[in-house]
Amino acid sequence: MRVLGIESSCDETGVAVYDGELGLVAQELYSQVELHARYGGVVPELASRDHIRKILPLIDKVLRASGRDAHRASPDSPPPVDGVAYTAGPGLIGALLVGATVARSLAYSWEVPTLGIHHMEGHLLSPLLEPPAPAFPFLALLVSGGHTLLVSAKDHGDYRILGQSLDDAVGEAFDKTAKLMGLPYPGGPHLARLASSGNPRAYEFPRPMIKKPGLDFSFSGLKTSVLLAWKACAKTASDKADIAASFQEAVVDTLVIKVQRALMQTGYGAVVVAGGVGANVALRERLVALATETGTEVFFPPPRLCTDNGAMIAYAGWLRFRDNGFASETQSQLRPRWPLDEL
Ligand code: KG4
Ligand code: ZN
Repeated sequence: MRVLGIESSCDETGVAVYDGELGLVAQELYSQVELHARYGGVVPELASRDHIRKILPLIDKVLRASGRDAHRASPDSPPPVDGVAYTAGPGLIGALLVGATVARSLAYSWEVPTLGIHHMEGHLLSPLLEPPAPAFPFLALLVSGGHTLLVSAKDHGDYRILGQSLDDAVGEAFDKTAKLMGLPYPGGPHLARLASSGNPRAYEFPRPMIKKPGLDFSFSGLKTSVLLAWKACAKTASDKADIAASFQEAVVDTLVIKVQRALMQTGYGAVVVAGGVGANVALRERLVALATETGTEVFFPPPRLCTDNGAMIAYAGWLRFRDNGFASETQSQLRPRWPLDEL
């Protein structure tokens, strides 16, 4: 059975086909980064319009690459896929509407079922797309531009949020700190690159919330400390690199401490890291070290599957279709805000 997956929750148009036997057979991704760069952040209306421009050509390309054709020669020809999955939330409503409308229209003409998928479930399942894949139960650290979540994933579809950010998401903290230092949007990867040449101990930034019990995060205090350090320094190239490195070190320390705590609390033997910040090399290195120390396993999707993509939606959709016998949803409900544990 084959599923077409469509991701359009923010500034990436992602399309992929997942086959139950062959795995991922085709995928395409278009990033709107350049479109939004001059505004220093995502402009929702422009995002929706660009999804409209890009989505059908990408679907055409992916279906051809999968060896099928979007256009059926006759009503008797088999459909190119057996189901269509699309991101139903959380995300920008206009952007979500583009993906959902295209998905449901195509599915209607192909006479196949549709299913709306939770964007963060897509991220959570993305490490299962390539071997070595983790087995349930596991702990998931989901770190993106919009979310910072520690999730107990007991089984497919059985998720409990153990901790989350009370203010900025970790990717957002990276992006805001980068913007403060004049780095281009989105700042996360630029700041990480700069950090690699700086001294992570040059500034003693706070490790937010680590003294409090519990697994929630907060990054607003850290942001203020960085702002004060930035204002007080001479802004030389080495000051910039040192602030970037010290900021990254504080974030990574905080994330690693909470992951360690959550592993002890759940007794799980594996942690899965996903979402855009999961591409951060310093975070990866520290989590690998923690895993070695504690005799646990850590799984990362390859960097191209860390950030938003259609493959994770195709795969999450395929799993849900498989479990429900390829039954269609009865109506489409888009949810710009949608807690993962309400699935
Ligand atoms: O998952 P994602 O592609 O989109 C959302 O769903 O938000 O995550 C994007 C976020 C951005 O904030 C970006 O700056 C951050 O991930 N990011 C990074 C790195 N690569 C992407 N942050 C730190 N280090 C990186 N290497
Ligand atoms: Zn995402």
